[in-house]
Amino acid sequence: MLKILVTAVLLFDISVGYRVLLVFPFPYRSHGILGSGFVRNLLEAGHEVTYITPFPLLEQSPKLHQVQVGNSGVLDATFNIKMLLEGNLRSDPSKIFNLMVNVARDVLADRKVQKLLNNTNQNYDVVITEWMNTEIYSGFSAVFDCPFIWFFPFDQYLEIFRIMHTPAHPAYTPNIRTRNIPPFNFRQRLQELWYQMITLYTRNFKFSPIEEKAYRQYFEDAVKRRGRKLPDYNEIKYNASLAFSNSHISLRDVPELPLALKMIGGFHIETHIKPLPNNLQVIMNKSTNGVILFSMGTQLTTGGMPSELTNELLKAFGDLPYTVLWRFDDDQLKDIPDNIIVQSWIPQLSILAHPNCVLFITHGGLLSLTESIHTGVPIIGIPVFADQFLNVDTAVKNGYGRRVELSFTMSHVLREEIHEVINNPQYSRKAKELSLIYHDRLVPPGVELVHWVEHVVKTRGAHHLRSPALHLPLYQKLYFDLLAFAILILFLFFILYRYIVIKLSYLKRKIKIT
Ligand SMILES: *[C@@H]1O[C@H](CO)[C@@H](O)[C@H](O)[C@H]1NC(C)=O
Repeated sequence: MLKILVTAVLLFDISVGYRVLLVFPFPYRSHGILGSGFVRNLLEAGHEVTYITPFPLLEQSPKLHQVQVGNSGVLDATFNIKMLLEGNLRSDPSKIFNLMVNVARDVLADRKVQKLLNNTNQNYDVVITEWMNTEIYSGFSAVFDCPFIWFFPFDQYLEIFRIMHTPAHPAYTPNIRTRNIPPFNFRQRLQELWYQMITLYTRNFKFSPIEEKAYRQYFEDAVKRRGRKLPDYNEIKYNASLAFSNSHISLRDVPELPLALKMIGGFHIETHIKPLPNNLQVIMNKSTNGVILFSMGTQLTTGGMPSELTNELLKAFGDLPYTVLWRFDDDQLKDIPDNIIVQSWIPQLSILAHPNCVLFITHGGLLSLTESIHTGVPIIGIPVFADQFLNVDTAVKNGYGRRVELSFTMSHVLREEIHEVINNPQYSRKAKELSLIYHDRLVPPGVELVHWVEHVVKTRGAHHLRSPALHLPLYQKLYFDLLAFAILILFLFFILYRYIVIKLSYLKRKIKIT
């Protein structure tokens, strides 16, 4: 009896676990945090996970297989705070695209990845891959002949809509490059339209051919080895079953969503907030005046800040009536005032969740803002690059934060804003309101993530969620054919009219003559 039971349990265990391939090779620490959020939620649900990452997890599990790919160091060198301050990093779309394609090439050429692709005994039920400016990774689903899911780490609605539905409406859709916040005025609407047109043009005619070449180069053999033909690149990249967005309505203005886009912002946060280490717990409890958490994110805290900037920050924080917890990875800081505590590692969420934490000063990365809403703490955003400007401006618009420009002379403004956000209760009230919206979901985001992954596997690609607009040519969506038809009819009328007029005048003349 017991034997049967054990076998039944084992069988059951095998039948519920799916094999998931997670492709998260972008060598940037916060993306590693997101990848590990997928790993944790999927493992907890009993699935088997193969994880392609530059940041392998320490955790061991018989159901977790990790494939470490190079952290090429390209990005550390590129996103350096000093370069940013000196204006050396202009985010030109072609430059960013080339960087991303080069990362993808490195990853796909990696011996371990090629081994995985060419192992014909290896099968997966679903592939989940991060969308980082390139669609090359859709090739994994061609190799393993299984459905795939995009994961969008930012709110790039223009791109999400293009891939999952139809290009987003430029008149009200924000994007991380133009950084306009809706409602747009006339000039902004024109700017958005122009940007949308340029983006579609460069994607389709400049970027896509480059990607297609890499797609053939790295996936064709593996697909052939399995006795199939490589699908057309323009078909496979639009063939995702689903997309996850690392966002939530409480963080964003979202006009509308395709059915196959699920917002799972907050999934990287564990259900139980970890208790603070003893020393921090004591500091937090003692600081009844309030604690300010200051962190510029995982990448910038280690990027090396010029001393002009650190001095400016010490000037801003020194002799405030609050305790400042500064996450910083540099031991050059000297003459630190008593109210400032500098540590290279700070459990951000556990600090934010403490009732004495009154303000979070952040670079405005989406993960940090999600954590501030998760815990209902207002922010001051000092955006540095990429989506951070739009994130912070949205937070300002939503009323739970202020924005300060990064500069060597920011201490005065920063101090003023600190007093404003802490002493004016409207910011903290708004943060708590949004926190309520954020938490008030049917299920927590991690549970939702697992549900949709399973749904895609169970329904073999969730065809019922796909947008019918995906394969309709643009001229039909914009009714250009109707326009052409109407012009033709008008033209014919005009010809007919002229013919009749000429005929009539001819007849008239004829009558007069006779
Ligand atoms: C698109 O996805 C579906 C479902 O996963 C699959 O059956 C089909 O073969 C895919 N098409 C291409 C061109 O890969």
